[in-house]
Amino acid sequence: MKVTVVGAGAVGASCAEYIAIKNFASEVVIIDIKENFAEGKAMDLMQTASLMGFDTKISGSTNDYSKTAGSDIAVITSGIPRKPGMTREELIGINAGIVKSVTQSVLEHSPNVIFIVVSNPMDTMAYLTHKALGIARNRIIGMGGALDSARFKYRLAEALGCPSSDVNGIVIGGHSDTGMIPLTRLAVRNSIPVTKFISEERLNEVMEATKVGGATLTKMLGTSAWYAPGAAVSSMVQSIACDQKKMFPCSALLEGEYGLNDISIGVPCIIGKDGIEKIVELDLNDAEKAKIQESASAVKKTNGLLEV
Ligand code: 2OP
Repeated sequence: MKVTVVGAGAVGASCAEYIAIKNFASEVVIIDIKENFAEGKAMDLMQTASLMGFDTKISGSTNDYSKTAGSDIAVITSGIPRKPGMTREELIGINAGIVKSVTQSVLEHSPNVIFIVVSNPMDTMAYLTHKALGIARNRIIGMGGALDSARFKYRLAEALGCPSSDVNGIVIGGHSDTGMIPLTRLAVRNSIPVTKFISEERLNEVMEATKVGGATLTKMLGTSAWYAPGAAVSSMVQSIACDQKKMFPCSALLEGEYGLNDISIGVPCIIGKDGIEKIVELDLNDAEKAKIQESASAVKKTNGLLEV
């Protein structure tokens, strides 16, 4: 199992690190445009192998995509991250050109690769990848919902005063401060609705804190977060590599599901060796249906700024 990670920034490096630590891939190749940067990150990570106990071979390359040949999975993190006060949508101008060119270069050397798109604005970058490459829709997956759901569980656990492993909840919709839809109605603690433990008011606070989870960290760190994004990607990579068929909310190209067409947006997906193996259609109530339509309109507006 060979994984390419494009972009040796903090998210790309964390993702490579978590993949290696989980020890399921034979090879990870990190690519970056900055001279020697990916090589340096790869060497630093390889020097942790004996300490962390992994056998995954990590290598780096400055823009030589021939090194990525035969990859099974490619994670696209390249582009600029947001600065405090910026929305993900404001990154579109620069990131669209970068994502289009790097995904084309990856595909040239790995015709059967499955893409996981992380660059922001993520739903639009995933849509752009579909338009630019024209490959089957199961092979292009946007990473947003897995991260947003992890942040939802963190906030739920904090409110309930319990470990994150005791709660469950998912976030669908666009990966943006206003587009995310934490499905509070379905949030549970060991199968019991969380409203048994916290008030509706507290649950609303959890929902609002989840939606601005990325922005809150960007303000604190001065740049976009990387540990949870890297961990979310590595879990998706593992589900593909080990054919685990786990369910994550992912940005998938919809063809009628949820009443939506020609858009990539967060919905629950079964992720296995073929990428998106199934899109799960939830029975949303009227308020949730209205929210996903509203979230989709905002994503379509951003997609409209693309020149494809
Ligand atoms: C986030 O931290 C990277 O968009 C990403 O939300």
